[in-house]
Amino acid sequence: MTLTLILALLATFTPITAQTYNPTPENLKARQEFADSKFGIFLHWGLYSMFAQGEWYMNRGIDSKEYAKAADAFYPHRFDAESWVSAIKASGAKYICFTSRHHEGFSMWDTKQSDYNIMNTPYGRDVIRQLADECHRQGIKLHLYYSHIDWTREDYPAGRTGRTTKSLDNPDWRGYYDFMNAQITELLTQYGEIGAIWFDGWWDHDSDSTAFDWELPYQYELVHRLQPACLVGNNHHQTPFEGEDIQIFERDVPGQNKAGLSGQEISRLPLETCQTMNGMWGYKVADQNYKSTTELIRLLVQTSGKGANLLLNIGPQPDGTLPETALARLSDIGQWLSANGEAIYGTESGGYADGEKVVTTRKGNRLFIHVIDETVGSLNIPIEGKVKSVVSFAGQTALDYKFRDGHLTMEVIIPADTPDYIIEVTLK
Ligand code: GLC
Repeated sequence: MTLTLILALLATFTPITAQTYNPTPENLKARQEFADSKFGIFLHWGLYSMFAQGEWYMNRGIDSKEYAKAADAFYPHRFDAESWVSAIKASGAKYICFTSRHHEGFSMWDTKQSDYNIMNTPYGRDVIRQLADECHRQGIKLHLYYSHIDWTREDYPAGRTGRTTKSLDNPDWRGYYDFMNAQITELLTQYGEIGAIWFDGWWDHDSDSTAFDWELPYQYELVHRLQPACLVGNNHHQTPFEGEDIQIFERDVPGQNKAGLSGQEISRLPLETCQTMNGMWGYKVADQNYKSTTELIRLLVQTSGKGANLLLNIGPQPDGTLPETALARLSDIGQWLSANGEAIYGTESGGYADGEKVVTTRKGNRLFIHVIDETVGSLNIPIEGKVKSVVSFAGQTALDYKFRDGHLTMEVIIPADTPDYIIEVTLK
């Protein structure tokens, strides 16, 4: 057989799915903007908020029909998109990721694909419409979380969760897949620019993932066809799949795996770590275990040190307001970022880190050393190139240092109550 013939035969057998995804120029630009933005706020708000037990409440063996009765009492009379968006913007966050439909299956917008939605509650107003309009007005990006799981619909082929919530007799993947794509089409054609679709739930079939085909390539292609700049992310806890634009880490800074969901390799896509402000994503009445402002700032700095974004979650309350403590944290982070954002936004990883004590970010020839542990007394940092100056970022005052054999060494005196002591090194 000639080589040409072999090649021709091989070409015939190349499956269509082997085509590689080529992001459009708009998409690449959106990726860069995303990577530069460093900080977003996640909002988990749905019918589950009514039960005040977190967004997984239904999975505790609750009958979906009983659960759905909450819709008839959903009346978040204090919801005000403008105050949410204003408070979030003032925190320095550059985008909001909102749960359009979580695993419970309730849609927070005027969807025509299912009656189980916000319009059929006493409240009766489209939350996504209000949020999208307000985000566009205030110039902050809106991302939409979308669950692949549905614990209410009978056509969803149940995986390892939600098995006790509904009758499992009528799985119909084709019908369910079409339903999801019709919903995604609504979200991407009726609410103006959407910054990202943030999928979740792939892991519901992870034990049979080789057998179960989520048909993601077509769905991703649909998103990109409707809005080329819309980023596709999927919280599957794997290295990114073809067609994805960002890589998501749940509850861990990339490279760490304390929560057990993040052993995957770090890709070259823009990175995002999502984390809760307290312990739960959806509002949980017993969960007042908020991280301190200092802890949250350090978390943001650590993610920036990895070149990643922090997507920090808040669970809005049943009445439609954000919890007071969450508002206080937003305001504190905002104050900190307005003074120090220069060393965070638009930076990339500076390369060097010493565990959770020291991390670095970089912008052009400026290297920012972030000391985020008060016990650090001295630094010894390898630096490529030559050092021109070393100053404290806050006061821009010159600091004593030595630079020898490619190593910057210096003593560090951290002022009291400093969540992040920043040293700015200008390189030649
Ligand atoms: C997990 C949880 C889900 C939550 C998400 C946020 O996938 O199942 O409830 O929305 O993490 O990262």
